Amino acid sequence: MKRESTSRLNITIAALAGAIILTFMIARTLGAAPPDIPGDETCLGCHAAKSLSTVTDKGELLSLYVDKAALDGSVHGKQVGCTGCHSDIKSYPHPKRSMVDRRSFAIESYSLCQQCHSVVYQKALDSVHSQVLKTQNQNAPICTDCHGYHNVVKPDTPKTRVSQTCANCHRPIFDNYVGSVHGKALTTEDNPDVPVCTDCHGIHNIKEARTASFRIESPEVCAGCHTNKEIMSKYNISTDVYQTYRNEFHGITTLYYKVNFPTIWCYKAVCTDCHGVHDIKPPDDPSSSVAKANLVNTCGKCHEGANQSFTDAWTGHLPPSPEKGFLIWAAQAAWAWFLIPVTVVGMLVHIGFDWRKARQHRRRESEDESR
Ligand code: HEC
Ligand code: HEC
Ligand code: HEC
Ligand code: HEC
Ligand code: HEC
Ligand code: HEC
Ligand code: HEC
Ligand code: HEC
Ligand code: HEC
Repeated sequence: MKRESTSRLNITIAALAGAIILTFMIARTLGAAPPDIPGDETCLGCHAAKSLSTVTDKGELLSLYVDKAALDGSVHGKQVGCTGCHSDIKSYPHPKRSMVDRRSFAIESYSLCQQCHSVVYQKALDSVHSQVLKTQNQNAPICTDCHGYHNVVKPDTPKTRVSQTCANCHRPIFDNYVGSVHGKALTTEDNPDVPVCTDCHGIHNIKEARTASFRIESPEVCAGCHTNKEIMSKYNISTDVYQTYRNEFHGITTLYYKVNFPTIWCYKAVCTDCHGVHDIKPPDDPSSSVAKANLVNTCGKCHEGANQSFTDAWTGHLPPSPEKGFLIWAAQAAWAWFLIPVTVVGMLVHIGFDWRKARQHRRRESEDESR
């Protein structure tokens, strides 16, 4: 009898232990947070209150309200919880943190993004923005200025969003760009073929733009699209513009600098010296820097005393022809159609005579031997 009751007790204990373990396992597989890390509901228990706020040491009011809907609608959505980013907050109520001012809190906080986006974070450290931030100007952008934090959206959809992001701080350049052939097509038609700011400058590794090396590399940035037949045929734009540039005075020297002295400023013209940078217009637009009426001025920036006949003599992006650049065309034609053929034919005739002479000579020798 005693034995029976002990074994029944044993079974009850085993069943209870089993039930506890099972409950724990089910809880884990259902993804319930381990007890020491608070879940989103815990944080929102206080932070969903619109009135929750704090004051920085400099007296700025900072709302501590968190909009759950914005967070749910963000790219992080349900994948990243509060403590996924705020991994420094392990308990609640959490310790009070000193906050000098709004901007220094933002700068301290953006490194939270690094936990999952370390590649982008590392890349951004070399950018001109990071350098400026460190040395001179706290207004240079950090992750959260361009992307937000609780409301992060796809940064490149629609494509206009990219340039709008930069516009927040580079407004005059953006305004210029919107009037350009590229910017107009982007903002009015959401045209995906034209460049946005990041196509020319990069995204997280943006470098200073007014340097010798950025300048000397810039023709290849344009060429990336302007030699692409598939893109350019849609707009009936020539894809020879790069090659013709590389074949003329300016392009030959800039290539020489690019290869040999990329950090020395080259004064010969790159694409943007003639076309403009952020305000590029089609050549048939009267306000274009390469419109016929403005060309004397454009070349005159570097060629003192340039006049109509100077610009007329230039063949532009066209290969020389009898109508345009007659002398160059004539020299090339003479070379191709006269000098080369005459030399080749002359050489062949010379070899022929030589060969005949050698044969006669050999025949005579063998006649002498047989005698
Ligand atoms: C019991 C209420 C309460 C809970 C729960 C709570 N907070 Fe707070 N939180 C506050 C208050 C109050 C402040 C303002 C403290 C101050 O004035 O410095 C604050 C400040 C913050 C700040 C601002 C900067 C800082 O570190 O002080 C962050 C970020 C924050 N909370 C995140 C969280 C997260 C994430 C959770 C969940 C893990 C959470 N909070 C849970 C009340 C709460
Ligand atoms: C994708 C990362 C990320 C997630 C997810 C996230 N936060 Fe934040 N949060 C930040 C960053 C970064 C800041 C600092 C931003 C700043 O002020 O410049 C911040 C700031 C805050 C602040 C200070 C007030 C403010 O607006 O600056 C509170 C409070 C806060 N978070 C609470 C929460 C709570 C609660 C959740 C979950 C419901 C949450 N956060 C989810 C990244 C995140
Ligand atoms: C806990 C990890 C984690 C943290 C911390 C985090 N993210 Fe993310 N982030 C993700 C994941 C996962 C995705 C992918 C979501 C998807 O594609 O559905 C993502 C996507 C993104 C995207 C969209 C990428 C795309 O391809 O369109 C941006 C932008 C982004 N995060 C910015 C940030 C910023 C800014 C911060 C800091 C405030 C941050 N993230 C912090 C995990 C994180
Ligand atoms: C100057 C504004 C700016 C800053 C600062 C910035 N980003 Fe971005 N980021 C962008 C833009 C614009 C895009 C989309 C560009 C495109 O697709 O052309 C992007 C794309 C992304 C993407 C998706 C594409 C990819 O390369 O993986 C992630 C993730 C991202 N950023 C995270 C971050 C993080 C983390 C930081 C901070 C270290 C940061 N960004 C800083 C503007 C910025
Ligand atoms: C939060 C403000 C802010 C945003 C957003 C921002 N920038 Fe900047 N940017 C700055 C500041 C500040 C500087 C340094 C001062 C200066 O040269 O204007 C700078 C410098 C630059 C430079 C170097 C300028 C030079 O003189 O060589 C380039 C190029 C640049 N930014 C491009 C971009 C692009 C492209 C974007 C969008 C992806 C962008 N910036 C978004 C603030 C911003
Ligand atoms: C078609 C390529 C291209 C596009 C698109 C472009 N840039 Fe530039 N950007 C350049 C070049 C090339 C330079 C260097 C110009 C020079 O040598 O003066 C430059 C210079 C700059 C500079 C520094 C010099 C200055 O003029 O102040 C900033 C800042 C800048 N760009 C920001 C932007 C922003 C913001 C956008 C989008 C609205 C943008 N860029 C779009 C090619 C481009
Ligand atoms: C991302 C691709 C891309 C890059 C990079 C690019 N362009 Fe363009 N460009 C285009 C497209 C597409 C059009 C046609 C837009 C339209 O007509 O709607 C165009 C139009 C032009 C036109 C007007 C041509 C005409 O006859 O209408 C000029 C000039 C021009 N680009 C010069 C440049 C220069 C100079 C650069 C480099 C600083 C450059 N582009 C960089 C895609 C690009
Ligand atoms: C010395 C000045 C100069 C330089 C340098 C220059 N261009 Fe041009 N470009 C012109 C002029 C002038 C025209 C208009 C007449 C013509 O087509 O020759 C033009 C026309 C164009 C057109 C319109 C062609 C069409 O079919 O509608 C494009 C695109 C273009 N250039 C792009 C470039 C690119 C890309 C570079 C650099 C690789 C470049 N240009 C370098 C002066 C220049
Ligand atoms: C950014 C400055 C710049 C612009 C703009 C520019 N050039 Fe030049 N160009 C040069 C330099 C520098 C040389 C080399 C001068 C030398 O070696 O004496 C040169 C050389 C030439 C030459 C070779 C003959 C000579 O004088 O050495 C011709 C022809 C020429 N450019 C025509 C033009 C025409 C036409 C335009 C306008 C459509 C133009 N250039 C715009 C800088 C420029």
